[in-house]
Amino acid sequence: MNTPVFSYKNAESFFDKQELDQMGKKAAKAMEELESGTGRGNDFLGWLHLPENYDRDEFERVKKASEKIRSNSKALIVIGIGGSYLGARAAIEFLNGTLSNAKADGMKVFFAGNSISSSYHYELLEMMKDVDFSVNVISKSGTTTEPAIAFRLFKELLEEKYGREGAKERIYVTTDKQKGALLDLAKEEGYERFTIADDVGGRYSVLTSVGLLPIAAIGADIDQLMEGAKAAHDDLAEKEFEKNPAMVYAALRNLFLEKGKSVEILVNYEPSLQYFSEWYKQLFAESEGKENKGLFPASLNFSSDLHSMGQFVQEGTRIMFETVVSIDSPKYDIQVKEDDKNVDGLNFLAGKTIDFVNKKAYQGTVLAHCDGGVPNLSLHVPQQDAFNLGYLFYFFEKSCAISGYILGINPFDQPGVEAYKKNMFALLGKPGYDDMKAELESRLK
Ligand code: PA5
Repeated sequence: MNTPVFSYKNAESFFDKQELDQMGKKAAKAMEELESGTGRGNDFLGWLHLPENYDRDEFERVKKASEKIRSNSKALIVIGIGGSYLGARAAIEFLNGTLSNAKADGMKVFFAGNSISSSYHYELLEMMKDVDFSVNVISKSGTTTEPAIAFRLFKELLEEKYGREGAKERIYVTTDKQKGALLDLAKEEGYERFTIADDVGGRYSVLTSVGLLPIAAIGADIDQLMEGAKAAHDDLAEKEFEKNPAMVYAALRNLFLEKGKSVEILVNYEPSLQYFSEWYKQLFAESEGKENKGLFPASLNFSSDLHSMGQFVQEGTRIMFETVVSIDSPKYDIQVKEDDKNVDGLNFLAGKTIDFVNKKAYQGTVLAHCDGGVPNLSLHVPQQDAFNLGYLFYFFEKSCAISGYILGINPFDQPGVEAYKKNMFALLGKPGYDDMKAELESRLK
């Protein structure tokens, strides 16, 4: 099976070979720390060998639950935030496209609890009043405010529509195996439960039930997804620097950072990869952005953003490099036809395909960006299918861990995300936060 291919040929003019070799030594050390479990955050390495040692029994239960959802529901509401939703959303759009909820048939998937927008949740609740639906609530801690509020809303609607017993048949809970409020509720109510292992952090959890249940619910081939991840797992176990693209990519990121290029832009030329970029941004931002270090992970969707952000990329502050995830063979292609009037002057393209035009836009952009001082890395993905997606997920996870170790931080914690939560709880008047409330309110006056 062909797998994604990493290339840095359009970045070679931006560094000397010796510089990459030097960084390669750091990447090899980082890889050794990761594989031996001696690096920082080593109690969160459950994702590292997941593609070969995932829980087969739970995997089969995921498939059964997804069949049940598909048989009794027209829509699935996936409730979760951050690592508890971005992977599933990335996968669903990657595999089904951005228009799948607009198609007449097939399972519709909506996401809730990833914001605190009353308008969004009101509209979704109104929509679900006339639709048979199920809910998959995903929260490792079981106490995250956004999904907890959304779950209250959709649980109430399910109970109104189907009664308490009927609702139980439509609620699937993915949470910690041993502890948490959601686990207690699921046990009490008898909801079907799926687990997030203790040693897998939220942003590394897409290949657990967190991602797998919603992905299977659209009818996607999760066996192929895990096969792809396994292929990446095996390829990226390679110890020799030049032969391991995850090590090379991680080294290049850090080399560019040293050279003042502190922004990485993940670029796609397919709208259905937009949420893959959102998943990537969480992975790298939460993993690396700490101790006043890290690259800022950004994303752009081309060619749309070439007509907006493209100006900055070409000529603005020279702080970025780009990494393109490019699909070699599109799922569908369309031929450009001859037009009698030729008012747009595009008859020279007659007989060519739209993807051919897209690829030329890509090639032209890479050359322009290199001329403008923006190094280009690329991942060429043979096909937009579950196997390649599994490969990509694992490739970025492993690269991120190696890159974080080169940087010298713990890639598996996220202490910074607690700051807003504490303030919000104090301002909301949550018991236990009384001391902070008056001080915060005085600052807001
Ligand atoms: O990567 C992470 O750990 C976070 O993004 C969490 O996934 C996110 O905060 C949601 O947490 P939880 O699953 O506990 O509701």
